Amino acid sequence: MPIYEAFNLILMKIINTVSELQSIVSQEAKQNNKVGFVPTMGALHQGHLSLVEQASQACDLVIVSIFVNPTQFNNSKDLERYPRDLQTDIDALSTKKCDIVFAPLVDEVYPEEDTRQFNFGALETVMEGKYRPGHFNGVAQVVSRLFDMVKPDKAFFGLKDFQQLAVICAMTKQLNLPVEIVPCEIVREKDGLAMSSRNMLLTDSQRKNAPVIARTLFESCNFVAESSVEKLKQDVIAKINSTEGLEVEYFEIVDGYSLQPVDMWDKSDYIVGCIAVFAGEIRLIDNVTYKKTNHDS
Ligand code: PAF
Repeated sequence: MPIYEAFNLILMKIINTVSELQSIVSQEAKQNNKVGFVPTMGALHQGHLSLVEQASQACDLVIVSIFVNPTQFNNSKDLERYPRDLQTDIDALSTKKCDIVFAPLVDEVYPEEDTRQFNFGALETVMEGKYRPGHFNGVAQVVSRLFDMVKPDKAFFGLKDFQQLAVICAMTKQLNLPVEIVPCEIVREKDGLAMSSRNMLLTDSQRKNAPVIARTLFESCNFVAESSVEKLKQDVIAKINSTEGLEVEYFEIVDGYSLQPVDMWDKSDYIVGCIAVFAGEIRLIDNVTYKKTNHDS
């Protein structure tokens, strides 16, 4: 281990309780230090580490939470097999400027059942919201609780979870939380596959075929001028479904703000294609931006 990583490992605090976390956070607030927060469910990869890098560039103190949130899993098998390896995560974080790792147990985050029901309207009735009922309510429950514990000035989220980001922005607005949500670019493997903790669950042959998802999305960008929205959609679905072991759950071409499907390219200035694909039992998501005008970037 390089010397700075060993040093960072000693300096980095690993905290499991809310009371300990809050005493540090209140000290930081007194010194006017800006707190950057990266919420994760662990099984960290370069995508997470790039969020930590961006947080450390923008803030004085970086807090990373590692918590596999049970309330956002609508499938108990998915929760059970979600990869967990705290020590490997801690070692990975020691390579970056992470000051605090907050790794609470379930009872610490939910001393009592969280019965709150959020309403994100049309944002949660499509795509992930449609196929994973209750998922975004669970995400909103945990993220709002974590925000309350960490009191971040800025929180960093990857654009791979495009719909999650929209829901978290809506939640922050609804609850009037004083935190800036910072969207961060998708980090990809060399072959284009969007980095995800679930990638490590893929078999060798699934892993070999999975980059077809990103490749197809990227290639489809070349056909916007000559293809209708519907035709492009069907072509993407057919191409991915023709790959052994891949099955598209949905592919929607939507307005990037409202997440509602568009049927013509000129219906919005910001158009995103969002996809969920099963590789065996492993569900992968990705997205591509077809059109975003400069004035709203
Ligand atoms: O994106 C994730 O890893 C999770 O949904 C999050 C935001 C950490 C909430 O559990």
